[in-house]
Amino acid sequence: MIATPAEIAIAPHPPSAPMAAGGADPHRFDWAEAWYPVAYVEDLDKRQPNRFTLLEQDLVIWWDPNGAAWRVFQDKCPHRLAPLSEGRINAAGLLECPYHGWGFSGSGTCEVIPQQPADSQAIASPRACATALPTTLRQGLLFVYPGQPEHAPRVTVPIIEPVEQEPEGWVMLNTFRDLPYDALTLLENVLDASHIPYTHHKTVGKRENAAPMVLEVLTAGKQGFQGVWPEGPRKGKLGTQHTHFVAPGLMYHDLTSKQFGRTLTVVYAVPTRKGECRLFARFPFKFASKLPGLLIGLTPRWLSHIGNNRVLEDDQIFFISPGASARSGG
Ligand code: FES
Ligand SMILES: [Fe+2]
Repeated sequence: MIATPAEIAIAPHPPSAPMAAGGADPHRFDWAEAWYPVAYVEDLDKRQPNRFTLLEQDLVIWWDPNGAAWRVFQDKCPHRLAPLSEGRINAAGLLECPYHGWGFSGSGTCEVIPQQPADSQAIASPRACATALPTTLRQGLLFVYPGQPEHAPRVTVPIIEPVEQEPEGWVMLNTFRDLPYDALTLLENVLDASHIPYTHHKTVGKRENAAPMVLEVLTAGKQGFQGVWPEGPRKGKLGTQHTHFVAPGLMYHDLTSKQFGRTLTVVYAVPTRKGECRLFARFPFKFASKLPGLLIGLTPRWLSHIGNNRVLEDDQIFFISPGASARSGG
């Protein structure tokens, strides 16, 4: 039987059907309904709670030895809202609140209330549970889903697709940094390759290399865009560059050149607080030659553009207010 348009419109999604990031409204991107990286797993300390802030929400990241998994909770105890990140992982492998010692399992269930009278069942109340957020590990990053938890398994995790498709042979440099500007400003700056010759004159650019830069957009929509720079960087000396933006926070440039092989410049811009973000920059590359050990020292300098702190400091020119530059005589 053929469904009428009205029936199609109200047909509920099966629970496992894929969902696009950003929520159902075609005109609005809901930032909570997306996966975000919060840490390189190798940087996390398994012995104590770790702290992170995502979309203004304070979180605690901790290793659950019983479930052998990383857990992410809202950083507030359900009892008196003390920050759980100030607590500890106790001998029973529970996340223990520093204030009155309530202990939580990996699912957020309260397992211990030291002050509970023998005849009380307070521990079984849903109000005694910590709030756990969905997590997943991909490509060495711990990702968290701050939106509706039941949506999480249906929403694609933003990973580096070229690395996923051909996992062999990559060398990957990783870095991160907290920045005093918002995620969209960072993404716009990464996309805007035309600033490099001027902003980064003498670090990774040269003013005389400024040239028309044309991005042909191949696909675009609420979930991001893909485009190609036919001429690529350095006035076309390196070849064509492809750029992918996966909304809301992942962008990568993909360049294959005779000189350096295939190089990706990957940026995750993670909104932490208003006007602030955490940058995760990753530089997967495959050498053109089969002598990677010898060639590591020849990594092109522009490849480390984003990871290089000096280069990031160049980019802070847009934060000098007119008042500040007048005071400094600029
Ligand atoms: S505030 Fe956490 S146990 Fe009391
Ligand atoms: Fe820059």
